[in-house]
Formats: sequence, structure tokens, C-alpha cells
Amino acid sequence: MVTRQFPRPVELFELMKFKKPELDGRKRRLDSALTIEDLRRIAKRRTPTAAFDYTDGAAEGELSLRRARQAFRDVEFHPSVLRDVSKVDTSCEIWGGPSALPFGIAPTGFTRLMQTEGEIAGAGAAEAAGIPFTLSTLGTTSIEGVRAANPTGRNWFQLYVMRERKISYELVRRADAAGFDTLFFTVDTPVAGARLRDKRNGFSIPPQLTPGTIIDALPRPWWWIDFLTTPKLEFASLTSTGGTVGELLDSAMDPTISFEDLDVIRGLWSGNIVVKGVQSVADARALADRGVDGIVLSNHGGRQLDRAPIPFHLLPEVVREVGRDTTVALDTGIMNGADIVSAVALGAKFTLIGRAYLYGLMAGGRQGVDRTIEILRSEIERTMKLLGVASLAELEPRHVTQLERLVPRPRA
Ligand SMILES: Cc1cc2nc3c(=O)[nH]c(=O)nc-3n(C[C@H](O)[C@H](O)[C@H](O)COP(=O)(O)O)c2cc1C
Repeated sequence: MVTRQFPRPVELFELMKFKKPELDGRKRRLDSALTIEDLRRIAKRRTPTAAFDYTDGAAEGELSLRRARQAFRDVEFHPSVLRDVSKVDTSCEIWGGPSALPFGIAPTGFTRLMQTEGEIAGAGAAEAAGIPFTLSTLGTTSIEGVRAANPTGRNWFQLYVMRERKISYELVRRADAAGFDTLFFTVDTPVAGARLRDKRNGFSIPPQLTPGTIIDALPRPWWWIDFLTTPKLEFASLTSTGGTVGELLDSAMDPTISFEDLDVIRGLWSGNIVVKGVQSVADARALADRGVDGIVLSNHGGRQLDRAPIPFHLLPEVVREVGRDTTVALDTGIMNGADIVSAVALGAKFTLIGRAYLYGLMAGGRQGVDRTIEILRSEIERTMKLLGVASLAELEPRHVTQLERLVPRPRA
């Protein structure tokens, strides 16, 4: 028998806890995001369809991206218990300098399209968090502008070697002069991937006002107010415009680039050289033999070759083959701090985030990028504690296995 009583007003009163309402709309919105997926949903609501799809989309059937994300979701962790994890150290050394977290911001083109603060927001947030920021050749903020936004932190520059070599080499020189310490040479883009969403949306640079984009703009006035009231949206280092990003890439990039270009770049650059977009053990070996400071296993976030190898799957074999000779980093598909922990456990020294950063940017400018980093940081720390490790160096392959669904079968 349950004994019942009249509810007592004093006890009821104790249960009533009214929070002070958050009047800052942006903060309220960002505080409500607990995951990168949440930020993605907010980003989608606030960004014109063509700009969101340019960011969110990938090439052809988007299989590469979907599989890369699935590979991380298919991780099974194997924790150790009864370890002191009251404090965890998430910091690491990467390419001759520190990073407070095992990830940095990946280079992304046309970033002010997503939200007007663009690279300035990314570089500022990176500085505040003590992680590196990478500026793309196709960036919308100048090399010097990024340096000014991140004067004390680490800036990296991503190079596309263009048909007009002079333009590329001049950018390398400027990045060197501005104190950027690492150069990413992207090699997975001899031609542009087929970004079908851009084609279907009729997306072009600069964005065009059509009846369709005007209707699409109605529920997203803030993006348009930003677009129309801030400096013109354009490439900071290129003059070509008109057409889809794919068409611009195809007209600017040189499909003849080869290993010899690497030697030329080495002669122009005093800092670290990292090759981004490596997708096979043999290429990793060839690059390590040429003495590069690092490689990034990446399929460009699935935006180039669809059905490309999943970088996370390549990782153990590449680390076994070249891990002693060069530094192996990884990107593509990272949506959770646990993804980063898994990559580090399997031997990645560092990771890069592309869309996770851009979803934050679209959801709330600089504060949105801060939120992305905060979400990933707390996921990394919590995952490490629950795994029973107190530092990144303690993460080992034994902490991670993968469900069988996507694990590659040995080649015949
Ligand atoms: C909108 C967008 C633009 C990108 N632009 C560039 C670029 O200009 N140069 C480059 O090397 N990689 C570029 N990337 C690829 C990223 O550097 C990175 O490899 C990729 O985003 C990682 O996958 P993730 O988005 O799943 O994190 C771009 C990615 C996105 C999403």
C-alpha cells in the first residue's frame, strides 16, 4: 500500500526552478547544440540552400563521405578500468609546435560564403583554443588578414599548384613572410570532383539572385543582410570568378602536377611541407622517401573521387609502413571527438576538421566555431577518461576495433 499525503506547497516550491531566460539569441541557439549534428541542423536552417549544400555536399553519389563517417560510427572501444583519469592531457606536438588538442582547422575554400566572418572567425577561434588554423588557396581572407586574426597562434597555408605557377609561388612566399609555419600541398585535385548538388542548385560564384534564390532567402534574412552589408564575397588570392566552384577549380588547377612540383615547392618554403590527400600506402612510402614532414590521409571530405578509400581504414597500414619516417595525420568524416580519439589510437598524430568547423561557422559565426571546438574538446576528454587513458600517448590500437560491415577485405 502506498501512503499518500496532500502535496505541501513548500515542497512544490522547492521543485520550481525557473532559469533566467537567455536574451542573446545566438548564445541561446548555440547552447542548445550538444553535438556537431545539432550545429549542422542549425546551420541548415540559417544558410541559403546553395551555400549549405556546397559545404555539406560531396562528389557524385557522396559515398566516400558517407562511408568515412560510417567507419567512425562503426568503432568499438575497449576501455581499461581503475586508472586515475581525474586529469587528461589532450595536448600534442605537431610539425614542430604545440596544439592544445589533437585536431586543427582544415583548409576550406570560399569560407565567407558560409557566413560572412569566414576565416577570421576560424583563425580567431583557433587562436583562443590553442590549435592551428589552415588557410586555403581558395580562401576569402588574405594571408595577412588571417595572420592578423591569429597573431600568436599557429597558421598553416594550403597550396593548390595552379596552371599559372607564378600565382602559386607568390602565395607561398607571402605565407612564409607572414610567419605561417606549415605548408599543405593538396594533391587529390588534378580536376574537380563532380559536386552534383552545386549543379542542381545552379550554384555559382558569386551567388546569383534568381527567383529561386530569392524565395529561398525569405526564411534566412540574416545571411542575406550579412552578404549585402559586408565587404564583397570574393577569393582573396585569385581573380577568376563566374561559374561553379568545380568550373573555377578546373580552370585554375594544373592536372599535370607531379612529384617534381614537390621538389620545386620545397625550394621555396622554409617551413614544414605536408602532402594532403594521400590515399595509398605506396604513395605514402614514395612521399616519406622524398623526405616530406608529413602526409594527411584524406579524400578531401569525399568531394573529389567518390568511392575513394576510407582514410581511417588506410591508417593502420600507412602508419606501419611510414610512421617512423614521417608524421601521419588524417581527415574526412570527423563529426565527433570520439572519431578523433579513434584515429589517434590507430596511430594518427593529428587530425583536421572541415565541415564540423563550417557547421559551427554557419550556425553562429565566431561563437559557432568556438562551440564546435568546445563540443569536440569535451567529447575527446570524456572519451579518453572513459577509456581509462590520461594522455594521447596512452592511446593504443588495442583500444579500437571496428565492426565488420565496412572493414576492407584483402585485395585479391
Ligand atoms: C566547403 C569545403 C571546401 C574545401 N576546400 C578545400 C580547399 O580549398 N583545399 C583543400 O585542400 N581542401 C579543401 N576541403 C577539404 C578539407 O580540407 C578537408 O579535407 C575535408 O573537409 C575533411 O572532411 P570533413 O569535412 O568530413 O571534416 C574543403 C572541404 C569543404 C567541406
